[in-house]
Amino acid sequence: MSLLEIERLGVHYRDHQALIDVSLRVMPNTTVGLVGESGSGKTTLGKAVLGLVPVSSGSVRLSGQDITHLRGRARRQLSAQIQVVFQNPYLSFNPGRTIGQAVAEPLTRERPADLGERVGAMLERVGLDRSAADRYPAQFSGGQLQRIAIARALMPRPRLLICDEAVSALDLSVQAHVLNLLADLQAEHGLSYLFVTHDLAVVRHIADEVVVLRRGRVVESGPVAQVCDTPNHPYTRALLAAAPVADPAEQARRRALRRASRSVQEGLVS
Ligand SMILES: Nc1ncnc2c1ncn2[C@@H]1O[C@H](COP(=O)(O)OP(=O)(O)O)[C@@H](O)[C@H]1O
Ligand SMILES: [Mg+2]
Repeated sequence: MSLLEIERLGVHYRDHQALIDVSLRVMPNTTVGLVGESGSGKTTLGKAVLGLVPVSSGSVRLSGQDITHLRGRARRQLSAQIQVVFQNPYLSFNPGRTIGQAVAEPLTRERPADLGERVGAMLERVGLDRSAADRYPAQFSGGQLQRIAIARALMPRPRLLICDEAVSALDLSVQAHVLNLLADLQAEHGLSYLFVTHDLAVVRHIADEVVVLRRGRVVESGPVAQVCDTPNHPYTRALLAAAPVADPAEQARRRALRRASRSVQEGLVS
């Protein structure tokens, strides 16, 4: 059975129809890449699954249960099963709380007796020292913070992790590191990813299936090799043509851009 099943989903903001008749499914232990240019509706789709935007038509099911309109306590209980990692790790952490408090946060209601031990083990699992728990977000790089965000998201042992441009702000080498970590964690825990990105190179690396969104509609979907190697839709072909090439000059340009945008982000929190 599908872990996540979205059927003919419609979301609109005032007069703007952000998603139109969107259907997709995510099987257990698999990664679905959701691609499309900026403004195509990717973030809106993730938010609809998380119950953060009002759904005007269609449905979202998790393991067969209709969760489309869950609110309040029932919605909060779902957070044990669906977690999310966003693009900007600098905005994902409260600067006044320690990393240990942040990572423990999804379990603060439960307060298991071994919480400290579980936080330490999870930090180690994402490649950090246990002592990171006593430090503050400002003491870490963007790549480290994104690994900490992943650690926090995995604490309740979710079945679905929504990654919304989760590696887009990172240097290419750090990106590769985080993508490999996600792949390893999937192999260990059998969780699924809905991996939102505008970057087809990333999708090729991590996804089993790809769904291509354009102006709120699905224009193409299928296994990653099929969509990336023999795209049917002209829009997918255009996205592929615009995707980064293995060109050192282009890579250097992108690194410089990322560094610049990171210093802007760092400026925001300090
Ligand atoms: N809160 C909002 N109110 C009004 N329009 C929005 C809101 N959030 C997003 N939109 C619009 O909905 C469309 C899809 O946005 P989004 O889901 O963020 O796209 P993506 O993540 O693919 O860049 C865009 O046209 C965007 O301007
Ligand atoms: Mg987005």
